[in-house]
Amino acid sequence: MARVIVVANQKGGVGKTTTVSNLGAALAERGKRVLLVDIDPQAALTAGTGLDPYRLTPTTYTLLVHDDSRLREVVKPIGERLWLAPASVDLSAAEYAMASLPDRTQRLRQSLQQGLEQVDYVLIDTPPSLGLLTVNGLLAAEELIIPVECRYLALRGVRSMLETMWLVHDRMHPQLRLLGLLGTLYKEGSHHSQEVLNELRTVFKNRVFQTVIPEDESLARAPAARQSVLLYQSISDGAVAYRNLAYEIEDLAAR
Ligand SMILES: Nc1ncnc2c1ncn2[C@@H]1O[C@H](COP(=O)(O)OP(=O)(O)OP(=O)(O)O)[C@@H](O)[C@H]1O
Ligand SMILES: [Mg+2]
Repeated sequence: MARVIVVANQKGGVGKTTTVSNLGAALAERGKRVLLVDIDPQAALTAGTGLDPYRLTPTTYTLLVHDDSRLREVVKPIGERLWLAPASVDLSAAEYAMASLPDRTQRLRQSLQQGLEQVDYVLIDTPPSLGLLTVNGLLAAEELIIPVECRYLALRGVRSMLETMWLVHDRMHPQLRLLGLLGTLYKEGSHHSQEVLNELRTVFKNRVFQTVIPEDESLARAPAARQSVLLYQSISDGAVAYRNLAYEIEDLAAR
């Protein structure tokens, strides 16, 4: 049975998509079968694999909105042991299309049930909001990673993300747990980055991953090359960091 991990933070540009793409690639490199799920209407994860979010059908929109959709008709192979349930730009209309459905918060969870036996990990990329799409992501998963940019103002956003998680946990989905807060965009040698990371560890203690993702241009350039950083720049700091994160996540589960 797959471990289903959602990557969420309502703050934009903190490294959610970068984490889903490269953590997924790192887990696949370790021999795991990994399904990436894009439920962000920006479709950055999808575009970064070379698929065109303007032309694709069927997509996660289909999964969320159409009752008779099948996961296997949506999923595309994107690498060795790596698959993607792509997003399309029409996903921005999904929140409206789902709004009147009685099971609107559970649509993704129900769709993914069909694929949980075939893979070891499902990683879900969510939009920078706490709307119905993100709630579908939270309810479809058992574990949550919150990427936190190593900048002072980012810390305030963590609280509202955690409050949302607890709300979902208490009211709808008690199996959901925080896998970890992930420091991202860490500037090597920056006093400020280090201060923010220290603060994060002081407040959230062992809920913060040991692995910290450094700011590394290869991570920003890899999507333009339609690759994960592991293939694009295999020994870059970014690639090493995401391999370390994959190890940490597997190690945490083994303990
Ligand atoms: N560690 C990093 N080093 C350098 N650039 C990074 C790093 N992480 C992310 N980026 C770049 O920063 C931008 C935002 O990252 P990303 O798209 O992963 O964030 P996001 O949280 O998914 O954003 P959104 O909320 O808009 O979906 C992207 O251009 C990405 O390539
Ligand atoms: Mg994103």
